[in-house]
Amino acid sequence: MAAGITLNDIQKTIEPQIQLFESKFKESVRSKVPLLDRIMYYIVQRKGKQMRPMFVFFSAKLMGNITETTYRGAALIELLHTATLIHDDVVDDAYERRGFFSVNALWKNKVAVLVGDYLLSKGLLLAIDNQDFTLLQVVSKAVKDMSEGELLQMERSRSLNLDEPVYFDIIRKKTASLIASACAVGFASSVNDAKWQQMVWDIGEKIGIAFQIRDDLFDFGAEDAGKPKGIDIKEKKLTLPVIYAINNASAADRRWLIYTIKNQHNNKQKVAEVIDFVWNSGGIQYAQEAMHRYRKEALALLAQFPQGEGRTGLEQLIWFTIERKK
Ligand code: IPE
Ligand code: IPE
Ligand code: MG
Ligand code: MG
Repeated sequence: MAAGITLNDIQKTIEPQIQLFESKFKESVRSKVPLLDRIMYYIVQRKGKQMRPMFVFFSAKLMGNITETTYRGAALIELLHTATLIHDDVVDDAYERRGFFSVNALWKNKVAVLVGDYLLSKGLLLAIDNQDFTLLQVVSKAVKDMSEGELLQMERSRSLNLDEPVYFDIIRKKTASLIASACAVGFASSVNDAKWQQMVWDIGEKIGIAFQIRDDLFDFGAEDAGKPKGIDIKEKKLTLPVIYAINNASAADRRWLIYTIKNQHNNKQKVAEVIDFVWNSGGIQYAQEAMHRYRKEALALLAQFPQGEGRTGLEQLIWFTIERKK
């Protein structure tokens, strides 16, 4: 189903909502500080795919209708997402984002840290000013999870710890928590039902895990995703394809892999050799299979919801998540 579907196709049924969201988003990041305002202009210009707001809107439509709170939820989630990307590029020393220079590349790390904080606080204020405390609670937990996920990842890349459950724990925290929140917050903005809301959260979490596995595969791929490639190994970040390769290699190969990642991660040629090895080991295929497993589980849960634009939109977004080229 849905091969080659584009975000534009998926967006069709919520186009006016997305447009209104964009204007609210733009409005909410204005600043009287000239430097900040210039950077905000840059960020709004180089917007991303805006998948999380789409998750919010479609989840709101699963069993109800889009409300004012839905819009705030969408803006808040995208603000936090943008903040974490800006911080993530500092953490990862990445100079490319969304096909262009990252904030840290153009304005340096110190500016990027503060800009991320600014966006985060703007998002939280949006909820507080409107007394959306449920929204605030769900989303604050996601931010906490994301920080923990990024730090856990950092700790593990130092020690080169290679176990699969930890990988899933990391991506659940750093990526799936926000996508799950997007779905739950969207749903809760239109329907008050804890049991169904939990299910929507679970769907979002599964999508989020598939989302990060897809993202990790970009690091090995031929496609230009608009961000650096080979950077995970350079940063000694062990993603599922590498973990599989290491765990299934001969003792000698394993020693070589670990030695190379530990000591030669700054050598482009060596990183390319590791990437080749991972390809030949079946690690890529293994990660793709894992991604499809989560895709399937998400779709199965979603099938329990009534048919309609909300469900169709989410189904298409799930397919897009795993098929996307950026
Ligand atoms: C990138 O997310 C960060 C990850 C969680 C992998 P997106 O791919 O949704 O980023 P943009 O907003 O579209 O650039
Ligand atoms: C995803 O981490 C970003 C966050 C969840 C904060 P990555 O470092 O893996 O994502 P990209 O590849 O830079 O977008
Ligand atoms: Mg990164
Ligand atoms: Mg990162």
